[in-house]
Amino acid sequence: MYKITKSEQLSENEYDFWIEAPRIAAKAQPGQFVILRINDNGERIPLTIAETDPSNGTIRLIFQVIGKTTAELSKLNTGDSILDLTGPLGMPTEIKNYGTVLIVGGGVGIAAIYPIVKGLKQAGNRVITILGAKTAELVILQEECRYYSDELIITTDDGTLGVKGLVTEAMEQVIAREIINCSWAIGPSMMMKFCTLTASKHEVPIYVSLNPIMIDGTGMCGGCRVTIDGNIKFACVDGPEFKGTDVNWDEFISRMKQYTDEEKQCLTADQK
Ligand code: NAD
Ligand code: FES
Repeated sequence: MYKITKSEQLSENEYDFWIEAPRIAAKAQPGQFVILRINDNGERIPLTIAETDPSNGTIRLIFQVIGKTTAELSKLNTGDSILDLTGPLGMPTEIKNYGTVLIVGGGVGIAAIYPIVKGLKQAGNRVITILGAKTAELVILQEECRYYSDELIITTDDGTLGVKGLVTEAMEQVIAREIINCSWAIGPSMMMKFCTLTASKHEVPIYVSLNPIMIDGTGMCGGCRVTIDGNIKFACVDGPEFKGTDVNWDEFISRMKQYTDEEKQCLTADQK
């Protein structure tokens, strides 16, 4: 069992947990994730590791309630435990000195970019970070990202914090202003697709992190398959990070919607 040492509600639908998992905390690198199962009857869901504290043996997971399992998870409190936690899984981000890097996080995807921002800053890069969300209260990890960024730009769809607009508009302005050697974008699929189009238009390399349905997380079930540069890859072992320009976005976005109706049925059946 893995004990929740701290739980906090960040906004209406977003939660921040620190969980005791010493072996994962000791090994995890930026870009990696865990697969968890709350109890014997639970499904397995992947969550990116937002932070680790090896001295305490804890890992930080930030998630949004989007279905039955995340709704169940959100009801757990400090002191409660979850049954299984497997990880760290996936290929880590390639952390090195690229020069100037642009890192874009959208909504709860900000939790996934935070370790990358930190890692790339510690590797000596000039780090420009863009955080985008629908509204001010959904811009998570602002201070943490600001600490490891040379420049932090915030965008909100409704203009309640930072610049009113989408992250892609802020990306355009930064790329027009200075040379960017490499970029990352993590958030909703549509955001990652449009960030890829923006970066590739200016010949800036871009990496995205794909979050398809995962079951075993070890490359055996095929549930997480994605088409990358015309080849089938498994996001759990070959990714989750891929070059944005190699992703077959239409297929990925359509597969991400495959079980929307069933997810809704499960959630509403539970609430009855
Ligand atoms: P959201 O819908 O509020 O979007 C966040 C920001 O992304 C917006 O403020 C906007 O600036 C930008 N954006 C959205 N659509 C865009 C478009 N078409 N063009 C340009 N920019 C656009 O985000 P949310 O509600 O927090 O949803 C988060 C999503 O992120 C979930 O779907 C979740 O599955 C996904 N996610 C992905 C990962 C990953 O590893 N890829 C990790 C965590 C979350
Ligand atoms: Fe089964 Fe990736 S989750 S192959």
